Amino acid sequence: MRKFVVVLLLVAIFAGCAQKSQTEGTKTEKPANPVEYGKVLFADASLGTNGKSCLTCHDPPSTLSGVGNKYSPKAYFNMAKKEMTLKEVINFCIEVPMKGQPLPENDERLAALEAYLRSL
Ligand code: HEC
Repeated sequence: MRKFVVVLLLVAIFAGCAQKSQTEGTKTEKPANPVEYGKVLFADASLGTNGKSCLTCHDPPSTLSGVGNKYSPKAYFNMAKKEMTLKEVINFCIEVPMKGQPLPENDERLAALEAYLRSL
């Protein structure tokens, strides 16, 4: 009987570990849907170097709803004092307030961030 309990306990522990690593695996996986991926990136401080993410300043993200219409394709962006596309504004925020490297024009992270903003 005692042996049986020990075996049961071991099984439960292993099952628990397996499940944990499975959920961790799905967490770090990149969502296939660009809007979902953009949402993840919006909260990702690794786009910059000062510990800030988009969400740090634009919280809740709905404060940016309407930018999709505004930047179609360009609008005057106050902080840069010139007309910009939405991708250029995103890169401006990565480069200036987040002190990061702007993303290349064809980078899928830039496309995902834009898709997310346009969905707000
Ligand atoms: C340290 C603060 C800060 C961070 C971090 C930041 N922004 Fe901004 N962002 C601003 C400020 C300030 C403005 C200009 C004021 C405004 O229009 O809200 C702005 C403006 C914008 C605009 C234009 C809003 C409009 O109405 O024209 C967009 C779009 C935007 N940010 C997206 C982003 C995205 C995407 C990220 C992350 C990659 C980001 N921002 C990170 C501070 C920040």
